Amino acid sequence: MILMYLTKEEERMLDGEEGYAAKKSMEILVALGDIYGAEKLISVGSVQVAGVSYHNLGDAGLEFLNELARDGKVKVLTTLNPAGMDLEDWKKLGISEEFAEKQNLVIDAFRKMGIIISCTCTPYLIGSLPTYGEHIAWSESSAVTFANSVIGAKTNREGGPSALAAAFVGETPSYGLHLEENRVPDAHVDVRTNLKKLSDWGALGYCIGKKVGNKIPYITGVKDAGLDELKSFCASVVTYGSKPLFFMKGITPGSEKHQLPKEKIIIKDRDIKEAYESINDDVDAIDFVCIGCPHCSIKEVAEVARLLKNRRVSSKTEFWVATSRLVKQLADKRGYTEIIENAGGKFACDTCMAVAPLKGRFRSVATTSAKGCYYSRHNDMKTKLGSLEECIEAAVRGKWS
Ligand code: F3S
Repeated sequence: MILMYLTKEEERMLDGEEGYAAKKSMEILVALGDIYGAEKLISVGSVQVAGVSYHNLGDAGLEFLNELARDGKVKVLTTLNPAGMDLEDWKKLGISEEFAEKQNLVIDAFRKMGIIISCTCTPYLIGSLPTYGEHIAWSESSAVTFANSVIGAKTNREGGPSALAAAFVGETPSYGLHLEENRVPDAHVDVRTNLKKLSDWGALGYCIGKKVGNKIPYITGVKDAGLDELKSFCASVVTYGSKPLFFMKGITPGSEKHQLPKEKIIIKDRDIKEAYESINDDVDAIDFVCIGCPHCSIKEVAEVARLLKNRRVSSKTEFWVATSRLVKQLADKRGYTEIIENAGGKFACDTCMAVAPLKGRFRSVATTSAKGCYYSRHNDMKTKLGSLEECIEAAVRGKWS
């Protein structure tokens, strides 16, 4: 028995009158809605689909996508998370022919569905920018956290299939973070430390994520935060914690309407130091440096180019700048690409250090991203988290210190 209210049109889709993909999607959305007690489906302004890398999907995932692509067409603006490779220049990243062939089949299926092949975890930097209060259905955890907390849009953290279902129907079940009553902070985090470099934001996300767990933090004490800092913080806080929502007093929208929660957590210099100690392994030789987790903004690419100008990446080290293809095109026009490539760096467009098939290729990575460190450990790499300057130095010298 279906518990959620369905309109006539939704019932028609569920009965298969709009084809296989719409029916399958309605089945997924109704099952989710019933599990989480949603009363109805609500329209979404955009969808972001994760689960794009063949590395994670495998043949079973590819088959599932091909079935949906037979008659499925998305109804709203839908973008993709990073794939397992640079779609145009995968060879330079050391990707095998076999993997590339499969990854291209995955992309073909998404293209057939009418999805924009954006392959980025920062859709908000390339034109899929929701408005305050808008309901959306996004999957990538850092993007979900950014949308909820920095923009003030409303989304749950969708899985790949539920995001696709929302794209085919144009709706999502109204539960969780779509409801105002579930968007109330329940832990006060007072930050009493100065954040000096980008990686400090990842370390702060680590501290807060670990300390609040499943609670929604109301963060005070942060005086200033730019887009890149917030992007980095979002990625880290949800990776090491779990809720993709926070409020930051005076910085994120909607924070002013909430009371300070009673439970108070204080973050001091010592906590940040401990975060670095826990993330950083005892390793000196660095054979991989990756900047761009989440994907680099054009400002970050410009900074990489400035620091790499007239320098040379060590022959022992692979250096990636992970970003969206659109940001790379801007970098081409500004001359940043030439500087970075002349120094021996590579652009990794459409992909990233977590979803590319990197297991066994590198022993150690240096990055500005706390989230990047988390996933690199899953790829059996030793990790170093540091400032952009430290990471560039590691790339040039092939070692950390
Ligand atoms: Fe984006 Fe990949 Fe990092 S999806 S947030 S660059 S792990």
